[in-house]
This record gives sequence, structure tokens and C-alpha cells, in this order.
Amino acid sequence: MPGPFDPVAIGGLQLKNRFVRSATWEGMAGEDGSATPRLAALLRTLARGEVGLVIPGHAYVRPEGQAGPWQLGAHSDAMVPGLASLAQAIHEGGAAACCQLAHAGLRARRELTGLDPVGPSRFDASGHDRGCRVLEEGELQALAGAFGAAARRAREAGFDAVQIHAAHGFLLSQFLSAQFNLREDGYGGPLENRSRLLMEVYAAVRAAVGPGFPVLVKINSNDYLVVNKTAFHDQDMLAVCAALAGAGLDAVELSGGTPDSGKYAPVRMGIIREDREGYYRLPAKWFKERLDLPLILTGGIRSLSKVREFLDSGLCDCVGLSRPLICEPNLVRRWHEGETQPSLCKSENMCSKAARAGEGLLCKLRQVQRRAREAARG
Ligand SMILES: Cc1cc2nc3c(=O)[nH]c(=O)nc-3n(C[C@H](O)[C@H](O)[C@H](O)COP(=O)(O)O)c2cc1C
Repeated sequence: MPGPFDPVAIGGLQLKNRFVRSATWEGMAGEDGSATPRLAALLRTLARGEVGLVIPGHAYVRPEGQAGPWQLGAHSDAMVPGLASLAQAIHEGGAAACCQLAHAGLRARRELTGLDPVGPSRFDASGHDRGCRVLEEGELQALAGAFGAAARRAREAGFDAVQIHAAHGFLLSQFLSAQFNLREDGYGGPLENRSRLLMEVYAAVRAAVGPGFPVLVKINSNDYLVVNKTAFHDQDMLAVCAALAGAGLDAVELSGGTPDSGKYAPVRMGIIREDREGYYRLPAKWFKERLDLPLILTGGIRSLSKVREFLDSGLCDCVGLSRPLICEPNLVRRWHEGETQPSLCKSENMCSKAARAGEGLLCKLRQVQRRAREAARG
């Protein structure tokens, strides 16, 4: 069985080890979505920390799809030079680079974009008015085309792969989910219809980047929605991934939950014991039993022993890390050099608070500890 530091291929792309920096909104891009030297420096540092594949935070493919402040954009050709500086920084650090492409749909922020958020349906299955403009059937081809154009930009910029963000309650996940998608046209109703937009996005991305270029999808194993438990669940995920595999997809990153999913939101708290690590390990097992496709397992992975166990048992091919690398960008190198204590991350989610406040990604816990040590030293 492969070990954590053994190489792996995703599509034609060779990764030096099994560690992936899962896409993490850094809050470090310019107001217009352009890359900044500060963001490039962070990604270079992550790559120097020996992660095999670095995925910067989600990049919006159209202006109305922006989810958060200082978010990266891939929505216009003007973004290409900045994206190139990110790919270059990652390569200089010794990692491969993958650009995650996203549209926030009804979760986009009108106050940032100045545009109406768009979504599959105005009301969700719980009867809540989501306040978005409903996308018309005739608009969806152009939307898929925007993902394709963004993928082309990422490739031109020197990225080695692209990842379509179809998880976490963003636009493609909204279409997949019976909680948010109440449409009665060819994009709503049965799963085959709800997954139509994702399949068209995949086709547009593939057409834009060509056959040999790795295309990944990040998808929910389950939406974990309390009101509508059958919104999008494990069997749906397996069926959609099988269809994507049939269409030539190169790898899946498995996640879960939406901001509406309470304690089952994608960024779970309290991962302080080994038995809580890898919180999507069960759907990962089902995935591997059914599908012959590289799988990146993300969510609450904190210790090298669990990484070994997940790889040994064939549960996944790679592991994705987000918060542990905010806490310790050099975590993988530390493990590789034999210092194998688990990540110092306490999963308290203070890092995103700092980014929301405009400070950029920052592990508050580590900052507080450092200040306390400095104070103690006088
Ligand atoms: C501050 C922050 C920003 C995130 N931004 C993204 C993102 O841009 N795209 C994405 O797919 N997931 C994003 N995530 C989710 C992570 O990629 C990952 O799925 C989740 O945090 C669970 O992994 P972890 O336990 O290693 O943190 C973000 C997480 C955090 C904490």
C-alpha cells in the first residue's frame, strides 16, 4: 500500500506525495479579484512546506458569483497575469498547482458585487425566500461556458490542473440539492436533471483545457440538511461521480455540508480526537468500493497515523488539509522530517474570523500563544 510520502498520478499529473492543500479562501486578493504578492507569498510558503498539490482559495468565474471579500477571481482575461504569479509561486515552492473554479450562486454577496445573486430557485424546500434571481434555462449554457473560460485562463496562467467547486452549498451544489433546487424544467426534479448543470460545466471545462489536462471536482458526500435529509446524499454523490468518471473526470475531492447544515457544515469544530478525524471516511469507503477514480479525502485530518491508516485501507489516494496548514504551513515537512506529533490545529475556526476581518488567513490560536510566550519572556 502507498505511504503518505509516495508519489501519485492524477490524470497525467505526477504529485510528489499524497498531501493536498485543500482550497481555502485566503482573503488576500485585491478588491477586483486580482492576485497579490501577499497571496503568492503564502502559496509559496505552503508549497515549501512540502504539500504535493496546492489549491488556492476558490476563484469566481463570473462577477456575480463572488462569495467573499478579497476573493480571487478568474472571471476575466485581466486576471491571467496575477493567476500566473500564483502558479509560479507554487511551482517555485516545489508543488503542483490546481485552480479551484467557483460560483457562489445564491450565497454571493450583493454588497460586494453590486449585482443580484442568482440561483436555481427563489424559495428553498423549507419555504425560505433566498432572495436571488432565478436563472433561466437559456442562461445555463453561458454559465457553463464561464467555467470553461475560467479553466482556459487557469491553464494559460500555468496551473497544472483545475478543480470545479461543486460542494458546500455554492451554485453547482445548489443545483444538485433538492433543498435549493425546486425547478420544474430540465435542470430540476430527478437527480439526472439536478446534475445536468454540473455535467455541462464539466464538459465546458474539458473542452476548454483539452483531453490531457487534469480536471477535478470537489463534491459533497451529503448536504446534511436537517429539514430535507434527502437533499443530496451519499447515493446521489456516488451516482454523480460515476457519471463524471464516465465523462473522463480525473479525480474527486470529497467533502460535505453547507453553511445551513449546522454542526455538519464543511468546517467542523472539535476535531481533537483521532476517532473524529476524516469525517467523510464512510462515504469515502463507499466511493472506493464502487468507483475506480483517484479520491482526495478532506475534512478533519490531523495526524500522520490517520493519514497512513486511510491510505493503507484504500479509503483514499490523497488527503486534503485546510485548517492544519493555516496553523502550521510546514506541517507536511515536519512530519516528513520525523516530527510526527499531530497538527496543533484545535479546529476552533478562529482563522476564518481573522480573514473576514480583513487580516487575511491567520491562526489566531497560534498568534495568541506566540504573544503569551513573548510576554512571559518579558
Ligand atoms: C478559512 C477557510 C476557507 C475555506 N475556503 C474554501 C474554498 O475556497 N473552497 C473550498 O472548497 N473549501 C474551502 N474551505 C473548506 C476546506 O477546504 C475544507 O474542506 C474544510 O476546512 C475541512 O478541512 P480541514 O478540517 O482540513 O480544515 C475553507 C475552509 C476554511 C477554514
